[in-house]
Amino acid sequence: MNQISINEFIEGIPKAELHLHIEGTFEPELMFEIAHRNNISINYSSVDDLKKAYNFNNLQEFLDIYYAGASVLITEQDFYDLTWAYLTKVHEQNIVHTEIFFDPQTHTDRGVSFETVIHGIHNALEVGKEKLGISSHLIMCFLRHLDEESAFETLNQALPYKKWITAVGLDSSELGNPPSKFERVFSKAIDEGFITVAHAGEEGPADYIWEAINLLKVSRIDHGNRSLDDDQLIKFLSDKQIPLTICPLSNLELKVVDDLINHPLLKLMDAGLMVTINSDDPAYFGGYMNENYCRIASALNLSKEQIKELAKNSFQSSFLSDDDKEIMIRKIEQYYQKNNN
Ligand code: HPA
Ligand code: ZN
Repeated sequence: MNQISINEFIEGIPKAELHLHIEGTFEPELMFEIAHRNNISINYSSVDDLKKAYNFNNLQEFLDIYYAGASVLITEQDFYDLTWAYLTKVHEQNIVHTEIFFDPQTHTDRGVSFETVIHGIHNALEVGKEKLGISSHLIMCFLRHLDEESAFETLNQALPYKKWITAVGLDSSELGNPPSKFERVFSKAIDEGFITVAHAGEEGPADYIWEAINLLKVSRIDHGNRSLDDDQLIKFLSDKQIPLTICPLSNLELKVVDDLINHPLLKLMDAGLMVTINSDDPAYFGGYMNENYCRIASALNLSKEQIKELAKNSFQSSFLSDDDKEIMIRKIEQYYQKNNN
């Protein structure tokens, strides 16, 4: 039997994506196209000129550009096109299930209605399911640099769309905006039937991860790199198998790690944690899922067996039903049996 390379193995294996900001999939070409049709001028003269600005020293420098990019999204069609472009990418990369963050406040604060945003995204996801066979869940994120009142307002706007939104999350500028700031909002979200997740321990300390677990009752931690600073936390995450959604290229581009060879992924796996690989904001960080898998596999010399474990973890950590998880995990085992030589 012909041996396939690790990259081919990665490309072919079925995967789920669990940490993906739809606004972070906004490719410069589509950004220029949508800006043009909305008669909005972009501060950059060309796609290449814009791409040159994608050079970040930390999370905040990225967020400033990310919010500026998202500001050209106005109509339902814009949100549909953005989501559809991502889904076609997902399809090419053998991602069969995706759980997508969206940031309503980034849009409602500019006068775009919640309805416009959710309808555009949701309609594309429906077509993605029908035409591409991609299943999905939506996760509505609160912007943590904004206040509690604004988060409550956003939660209220989401209530009529409960059937389209599975979970709530927390993103944006982490330092100085601990999970405790949103304890009451998350408590209400849980009462309304939403699952909860939160970005924690990307730039913020391990204490923020504890807060996300204890106060926000999260089912997953987004990023969680800093958990390694706290042995007790590592033991807790391992005992409870609380998933971490790790984003290697994001960590590299935002200087959370200085080099992928120093990325903590293997340490976290060796400590028995439930870790997954994700792309975060692929249009800004130089790669979608397969690029994240391939780059980290190369930097850490991961084996096909380790890739198989990561792909299995992606389904195990998802919000799919136990039956659907089981089906996908079995498919991955079969794929591995066929291709692990
Ligand atoms: N961290 C926090 N907020 C974000 C991110 C991130 O990595 N991406 C988009 N919003
Ligand atoms: Zn993120």
